Amino acid sequence: MSQHLMNNYGERSHSLNRGEGCYLFDDTGQTYLDALSGIAVCGLGHCHPQVTQAITQQAQTLLHTSNLFNIEKQQKLAQALCDISGMEKAFFSNSGAEANEAAIKISRLYARKKDIANPVVIVTEGSFHGRTMATLSATGNPKVRQGFAPLVEGFKHVPYNDAAAVAEQCQQGNVVAVLVEPVQGEGGVRVPDADYLSQLRQVCDQHDCLLMLDEIQTGNARTGRYFAFQHSDIRPDVLTTAKGLGNGVPIGACLASGVAAELLQAGTHGSTYGGNPLVCATALATVTELRTDRLLDNVNARSQQLLEGLKQSLKGCEGVKDIRGKGLMVGIELNQSCTQLVEQAWQKGLIINVTAGNTVRLLPPLIINEAQIEQIISTVSELVRGLQ
Ligand SMILES: Cc1ncc(COP(=O)(O)O)c(C=O)c1O
Repeated sequence: MSQHLMNNYGERSHSLNRGEGCYLFDDTGQTYLDALSGIAVCGLGHCHPQVTQAITQQAQTLLHTSNLFNIEKQQKLAQALCDISGMEKAFFSNSGAEANEAAIKISRLYARKKDIANPVVIVTEGSFHGRTMATLSATGNPKVRQGFAPLVEGFKHVPYNDAAAVAEQCQQGNVVAVLVEPVQGEGGVRVPDADYLSQLRQVCDQHDCLLMLDEIQTGNARTGRYFAFQHSDIRPDVLTTAKGLGNGVPIGACLASGVAAELLQAGTHGSTYGGNPLVCATALATVTELRTDRLLDNVNARSQQLLEGLKQSLKGCEGVKDIRGKGLMVGIELNQSCTQLVEQAWQKGLIINVTAGNTVRLLPPLIINEAQIEQIISTVSELVRGLQ
């Protein structure tokens, strides 16, 4: 561990120095099957040829100009994301938290427009929205907020998957927006009822507040549609995404439609790097691949294989409380803490993650094939059974 790095990530015992497709390699030449994708980032796998080519070409042409100038690829990327989502306008940031910051700022401007002096954004328990001051204040995990008071005001937490609780809060009259994840990722891969988003849409329409979806993790084909909200028949007012959008190059986006799309005006928000030529060229190449039927069909087929395979091979295993997921965002909730499984999996050449302390989280690259999913099922099942 370097004495010159702050300790916020704790001790990191392993290094990886090369990647190709669904595999990563360490400095001893060991191969690892990646069932994490850099936490839902490298959906197209590592060093995808089209993405690498886009990066290389753009690096040879122009890296950065600032947002004082038109950026053609930024305009093209905004158009592609709006075509896919039905949203109308985009703002580009460098991370997921910053995309959510933009959404939160939009909600504040919406409050000004409605003459609400003490606006509230409803957020949910167990949510994760980022590590900046506003996004950690919005986050529904007390551990993330701990030590950082005074927090940013104006967030009210309600239980996840409970539209009635949102409706009740809306009676207060000062709710301007509802910010939720279509599936909670960091919170333990929590999949809400199928009609949760449409119920929230109804409540928001009734009370004239913005429905803001955090698709930082669920977006970019991760759940088997390009955006997770597309499993339902609603459209949000604000949609944030990041992670898979750049396949490893840092980029986030805040998309908006209707009145929400008009609130940011010149001088009200910005970013030096946001949406620069390099990241937009990379994201354009990434989105072009991710939106194909071939890719989406693979996510759905591999998802079914993974969920069914895990359920089958862990049948009767006492410690397993639940196996759930959407697309290639899968969680196995156990009745005990299981963080040690991460190292045990590494020793078997598999990279996994544990979230919420007791949930094995699988986020493999979206290009993963049938044999590789079989390998994940057998290794993870063996490890989970070994825990008992
Ligand atoms: C749903 C969600 N929102 C926001 C974030 C924050 O994104 P970033 O780490 O890029 O700031 C994350 C990251 O895990 C996330 O999963």
